[in-house]
Amino acid sequence: MTALADTWGANTAQFWLRGQRPDHEVGYDEKTGMWDVHGYPEILHALSDPATFSSHTQRLVPEASGFSEGNLTQLDPPDHHKLRKLVSHAFTPKVVADLEPRIAELTTELMDGMGSRAELVSELAYPLPVIVIAELLGVPSSDRDQFKRWVDGMFNSTNKVALKDRSPEDEKYFADAMEQVGELASYLAGHIRERRERPRADLLTKLVEAEVDGVRLTDAEITNFGMVLLVAGHITTTMLLGNTLLCLDAHPDQFQAVRADRSLVPAAIEESLRFLSPFAAVSRVTTEETELGGVRIPADQMLLLWIAAANRDPRQFADPNVFDVTRDPNPQLGFGRGIHFCLGAPLARLEGKIALNLLLDRFPQLRTDPDDAPRFMPSPNMTGLSRLPLLL
Ligand code: HEM
Repeated sequence: MTALADTWGANTAQFWLRGQRPDHEVGYDEKTGMWDVHGYPEILHALSDPATFSSHTQRLVPEASGFSEGNLTQLDPPDHHKLRKLVSHAFTPKVVADLEPRIAELTTELMDGMGSRAELVSELAYPLPVIVIAELLGVPSSDRDQFKRWVDGMFNSTNKVALKDRSPEDEKYFADAMEQVGELASYLAGHIRERRERPRADLLTKLVEAEVDGVRLTDAEITNFGMVLLVAGHITTTMLLGNTLLCLDAHPDQFQAVRADRSLVPAAIEESLRFLSPFAAVSRVTTEETELGGVRIPADQMLLLWIAAANRDPRQFADPNVFDVTRDPNPQLGFGRGIHFCLGAPLARLEGKIALNLLLDRFPQLRTDPDDAPRFMPSPNMTGLSRLPLLL
């Protein structure tokens, strides 16, 4: 565990990793002007009451409001229900299950390029999900370096976003983030226009054609939904793969158990999602004055629901700081809960399972490189590696 903690230094915001759980479950942060929620039952409560804890957080960040149309993560009922039904029509369990052979093929191709030393993130964990989501949407996966620049720009910049006391530097970071979002949006809008004229066998075409109760998606809705898929759909799975290997490597007995019994792979992935939750926090805005965990919160307040901290809540999980691939049940909140539960969870789980199994088949001695430390991404609300050197 020390090895894990040592690699953490750069990212001091993610306190739960260093075992210093705050003494309050709900608290106001004077510096950011936002509320932090850490407790499992408190977060479940907020996620199950979208009327009071709205997902439309961009109304407090008006600069970003141009991109909320069609952005599922920003919608509340009844609009959320309508759009989710429409996109679920295109993004079905069958669409995901049919990807299995292609995911295995891509993983094998990427592993073919690995030598006796490899860097997991750049050689497999980043390219695999980004190629899968690009192929699924129907945009050229060869544009992935460009996606990476846009997405990196968005995340590096949003690190600095706070609701009050924004410095000129913060403002510049924020403006840069919005510029990246704008470029990605026009890229996708171009592809969508083309699909309207020339349909193809891809998800963008399915989204263009999807119809529920006579309603279809507008170009802006498809663009913003495509953006959510491209962003949420690759960088989180990149984190999942790196985090799972890091957790297993840091717990040799657990690693041995998984190597010996591959039926434990899905449970190892769930435990990794609990122990190092990639999407560490989701945000909500209060629509009226309310109470959460015995604390009064006024209307129009931004809340950060730290699902990564809830996943270590001792009131919910016995020995929360122990990584245990046999934990059962494991009601981890890594994919969220309630009406916004991650739409891509089946895809992320499938990619994780295939990649981990194939890595263990091909490299039975795989371990992290003791002379080349892993590195975490700098974002305060993402928990994931930007670099994981391996000895194969
Ligand atoms: C929503 C995490 C992979 C697409 C969410 C939410 C979380 C999450 C926590 C809830 C957000 C909220 O309540 O505000 C993750 C993690 C992933 C992952 C940890 C990988 C390990 C994916 C993939 C896709 C995807 C692969 C798509 C291909 C989405 C979408 C939503 C969502 C569209 C919004 C659903 C809604 O608002 O109704 N994800 N995700 N995610 N995720 Fe994922």
